[in-house]
Amino acid sequence: MLITRNSEALAVLSDPLRAPAPVEAGAPRGTLAWLRGQVSRFASGAAHAERRAAVTAVLDRLDPHVLRQAAARLRHEPPERVAVLVLGAALGVEDLETLAGQVAAAARGYLSGEADAEADAAVAELIGRLPIAELTVLLQAHAATGALLAAAAGRDLDEVLRDDPPVRVLRREGVEIDVPAANQDGPCLTFGYGPRACPGQPHARAIAEGWLSR
Ligand code: HEM
Repeated sequence: MLITRNSEALAVLSDPLRAPAPVEAGAPRGTLAWLRGQVSRFASGAAHAERRAAVTAVLDRLDPHVLRQAAARLRHEPPERVAVLVLGAALGVEDLETLAGQVAAAARGYLSGEADAEADAAVAELIGRLPIAELTVLLQAHAATGALLAAAAGRDLDEVLRDDPPVRVLRREGVEIDVPAANQDGPCLTFGYGPRACPGQPHARAIAEGWLSR
């Protein structure tokens, strides 16, 4: 079912029993398919709540004001590198260049589940470097923030978030929400809503504002 009305989208997103389609269990440890089975994004119930709390604890350590300043110093960087360079540095990661390559490779199949050998190799290296909650932050931030920065250059950020959002479809089992359509007749749903709403919204906004301040 495709949802285009804001009120219907809010009802679906508010319902804690409506989870994203579950990922397949049993993938070998260290593959992208295995990682998708460890993160909050695709989990439901108590596992979702517990993993989300761990991600929120990581995000609470990252001051959006500091992220904004760091992003402003990276104005020369292309949009798709900014989130990982800013967040990786804030998390204290050394060798940010290697991290950026690994996150980019793993992120390509993170939402879709379409893994390849390069993504699996990147995940195997990443899980040796960082805890799952920190990897969740980097993988969630990478593509969405890159797309937001690319779309927002020279435009009004709130307008882009409402009309041209980087995440265009929100999925729950059996339901797809058309985000740009639903954003037209109620509150902006670009960062989601309810128990699974994006916990990185202040961070994403700060990075965008810093990078766009030119
Ligand atoms: C610093 C950058 C970001 C971080 C750290 C981040 C982090 C996260 C995390 C951890 C989740 C999973 C929450 C859960 O499982 O309960 C999530 C979900 C989400 N994020 Fe972000 N995110 C970032 C940037 C963005 C951007 C730029 C957008 C769009 C403009 C976005 C839109 C969303 C949406 C829509 C969801 C919910 C998906 C759903 O309801 O199915 N995020 N984010």
